[in-house]
Amino acid sequence: VDLSHSNTMALACAAGSVVELTDESQLDVFMASYEDIISQKSLFVLSGGSNVLLPAQLDAIVLQPKMCGITLVAQIDEYVDIEVMAGENWHDLVVHTVNQGWYGLENLALIPGLTGAAPVQNIGAYGVQLEDCLEYVRAYHLPTKTWHQLSTADCEFGYRDSIFKRAPNTWLISCVGFRLHTDVNKVLASYGDVKTVAQRYAEQQDRTQVTPVDVMQAIIDIRQQKLPDPKHLPNCGSFFQNPIIPQKQFTQLQTTYPTIVGYPMPDDMVKVAAGWLIEQAGLKGGGIAPIVTHQHQALVLTNHTPYQATQYDVATSQKYIATVVFEKFAIQLSREPVWVNTDGSVGYDEYVA
Ligand code: EPU
Repeated sequence: VDLSHSNTMALACAAGSVVELTDESQLDVFMASYEDIISQKSLFVLSGGSNVLLPAQLDAIVLQPKMCGITLVAQIDEYVDIEVMAGENWHDLVVHTVNQGWYGLENLALIPGLTGAAPVQNIGAYGVQLEDCLEYVRAYHLPTKTWHQLSTADCEFGYRDSIFKRAPNTWLISCVGFRLHTDVNKVLASYGDVKTVAQRYAEQQDRTQVTPVDVMQAIIDIRQQKLPDPKHLPNCGSFFQNPIIPQKQFTQLQTTYPTIVGYPMPDDMVKVAAGWLIEQAGLKGGGIAPIVTHQHQALVLTNHTPYQATQYDVATSQKYIATVVFEKFAIQLSREPVWVNTDGSVGYDEYVA
């Protein structure tokens, strides 16, 4: 099965077997019926493919959660509880909820991928992280073949991190529960240009108060300007995490580089904008072809030979960029998307030490 069109980086990938799941019971049936095969091969869960680096040959059983549905569970005072199946497109969900007058997800507009993958990396943008609105996750524990409901605390969320990310190939997320609100005056627009752009939208509608709809429009605008659309220029979003360094090291760097961008974090740490580091290292639009950084956002690696470039090309460019940045700033960049090995295991990378 050709998976080169099933990952937004458009890396060449051929898989042995792919199992599409359109409802939860199919998973129970599959796991009970194919015990022999399952004991010999690893299972790999592929969602929207927007945060993975697939190998040229994937010799695992690929499970694709495609169950759909958005259910209104309860509406109490100013809150709305909804349950969303894993196969729902994330951005469509954001637009749908905001159109219903259910707010909280608007800052996460235009993030590629499906709802089921959102908790894995605790997607975050413009001051909001998924965990802020998430109530629970229903997931299948593959090793024990059992269903579980995990609370927000159980998910152990961190920056671009969760229990699901730390234990790869362990959980298949089937549905996510959210608690949203209906207060049209409650918005979070403090990040970067969001406020200015959102205010412009509000003024166009003759409103003085910025609403979640304005914030969503602003974020769509900002993202469209900076971030490449994977349909036109394959990519997997931010390729590196923003490194978190001690305040002391940051202050030292500031003396040499007064424009360095950092956000204060707990425990006397600072989260540094990796895009800034890469740009200052002279690598905006750079890297090793065909995998180069985006001209408008150096944190995003793009694939200029879709369906041909392989994971190997990504590793070569990643290593080069990380080395140049390290030599200039003594800061180690870590990859954000998940690296998948030929046997379906996750996280090992023979090209990058
Ligand atoms: N910057 C540069 N040069 C660049 C890129 C960025 O100087 O080439 C500077 C910007 O001027 C800005 C700062 O770095 O001062 C931060 O840039 P930006 O607001 O674009 O955000 P980011 O830190 O690079 C993070 C997330 C994005 C998310 C944005 C907005 C990570 C790894 N990335 O990027 O998430 O959309 O904030 O909240 O945390 C993703 O994970 O795929 C993703 C796109």
